[in-house]
Amino acid sequence: MYRIVRKESLRPIVTLYEIEAPLVAKKAQPGQFIILRVDENGERIPITINDYNPEKGTVTIIVQTVGSTTEKLSHLNEGDCLHDFVGPLGKATETEGKKKVAVVGGGVGCAIAYPVLKKFHDCGAEVHAIVGFRSKDLVILEDDFKKSSDKFIVCTDDGSYGRKGLVTEALKELIDEGNQYDEVFAIGPMVMMKFVSKTTEPYGIPTTVSMSPIMIDGTGMCGGCRLSVGGEMKFACVDGPDFDGHKVDWNLAVKRNQMYQEFEKHKHEETCNLFKKEVQ
Ligand code: FES
Repeated sequence: MYRIVRKESLRPIVTLYEIEAPLVAKKAQPGQFIILRVDENGERIPITINDYNPEKGTVTIIVQTVGSTTEKLSHLNEGDCLHDFVGPLGKATETEGKKKVAVVGGGVGCAIAYPVLKKFHDCGAEVHAIVGFRSKDLVILEDDFKKSSDKFIVCTDDGSYGRKGLVTEALKELIDEGNQYDEVFAIGPMVMMKFVSKTTEPYGIPTTVSMSPIMIDGTGMCGGCRLSVGGEMKFACVDGPDFDGHKVDWNLAVKRNQMYQEFEKHKHEETCNLFKKEVQ
């Protein structure tokens, strides 16, 4: 069992959980993920690691409440335990040997962009951070980003904070101003990562995206997380989650993601209907 030692609400539906998981904390690296189950009968959900503390034996994750499992998780409190917390899974993000990088995060994906950005910074790279949110009330980890980046740009869709517009517009401007990036790293909604990749492609800037498709077993056995990358089938759980954004088959990835979201929505509605029937 894995105890929640800290629970902190960052935004109305975005929560930080610090979990006691010494073996995971000992081996975790930026970019890797865990799979958790809230209870014995719960579904397994993959969540990318936000932070880890090997001395304390804890791993921090930031979760947006968007489906039935994250909803169930949101009802747990400090002192409660998760049934499973397996990891670290996937390959760590390669952060060494870069002189200048841009890290682009979207929404709750910024929780994952942050440890990667910090590792780039700790490895000596000049780091430009561009983060995007729908509106001011959804902005997270701003101080953390500022501390570890040489340039920090926050964008909101509605212009309620930072600059109004898309992260891709800010990224393009930085490139056009003459910033020569060794790499652009993007994490966030799939459609955002797709357009970051499309933005950098004409400039030939190596672009890494952190993919989080449907995952079931997290071991490369079920095929749930398969992606087409450079014409080859890859599994995000064992071959990723980082991939070359210029080689990902985005049409297929976006289509599979939409199907999964539909399924999740339907499942959530079904659960609510069942619940309503039970209480009637
Ligand atoms: Fe099953 Fe990756 S989650 S193959």
